[in-house]
Amino acid sequence: MDCNKLQIKEGETLSLGKNELQFFMAPMVHWPEVMVTYHTNEKVLFSADAFGTWGTLDGGIFDTDINLDHMWDEMRRYYSNIVGKYGNPVQKALAKLKGLEIEVICSTHGPIWTKDIDKVVSKYDVWSRYEPVETGVVIAYGSMYGNTEEMAETIANSISENGIKNIVMHDVSKSHSSYILSDIWKYNALVVGSPTYSNQLFPLVQALLDQIKTRGVKNRLFSYFGTYAWAGATHRYFSQFAEEMNWEVVGNPVEEKMRMGDQALKDCIDLGAAIAGKLK
Ligand SMILES: Cc1cc2nc3c(=O)[nH]c(=O)nc-3n(C[C@H](O)[C@H](O)[C@H](O)COP(=O)(O)O)c2cc1C
Repeated sequence: MDCNKLQIKEGETLSLGKNELQFFMAPMVHWPEVMVTYHTNEKVLFSADAFGTWGTLDGGIFDTDINLDHMWDEMRRYYSNIVGKYGNPVQKALAKLKGLEIEVICSTHGPIWTKDIDKVVSKYDVWSRYEPVETGVVIAYGSMYGNTEEMAETIANSISENGIKNIVMHDVSKSHSSYILSDIWKYNALVVGSPTYSNQLFPLVQALLDQIKTRGVKNRLFSYFGTYAWAGATHRYFSQFAEEMNWEVVGNPVEEKMRMGDQALKDCIDLGAAIAGKLK
């Protein structure tokens, strides 16, 4: 004890009369110095950022006061954007907390959880292992004049016609990237489209790829498409990305000069069919 300060270390307990607190480090969930506190008598975990969620509370404080329907998606959006890079530290923290009997979770973000504790913990467990939650496809594309968008629509239509219902389309200029990342965490396939832009990818498409790379997303099925006017560069960047991510490329990616001609139309339909076939 020094100047009324007590430095607590990993696993130590602190008795405050009738209350006893126990402390565990959870580094990089999602800051280096994170420590969680367990109230042993009441079985309450003050979990810092772990088990946090976005989404408004809309007047409630406890989970039992709130319509939670939107909360699970918001929890995944929070996880994928804020914690997503730190899958291994989350796994380590979960292993450490495994032995605790938890009846209440007080995270720094979101409602106080008093029920669905197992559900909350298991969602963090699945996401931190980068396991897709559902079979489905995210199609994210950038487009200035509509050429690449037309391809995106054609591929989506073909995937749908081949029996896959879970298809989410994002125009990267319109969807906030936090929603796109969240959907990438949810589904097992990602198809990305871009025009060639100053010999590179469309900037917001490149930004999305960078965000995915930063977070080290694992095990997604991947494909891509693009258009150009004089010298296409999309194939080069997308194939390099797939290699860096160690992701499987599905079907034959399509790159077309300006608007889709008959051959590219057929190729996009075939690509959609290949993706659907892989998912079934
Ligand atoms: C700002 C800008 C930069 C471009 N840079 C290239 C380029 O480096 N190489 C190329 O072949 N086409 C380039 N293009 C042409 C587009 O890639 C081409 O028109 C493409 O089909 C546009 O797709 P979109 O209709 O989906 O926007 C560029 C177009 C714009 C507007």
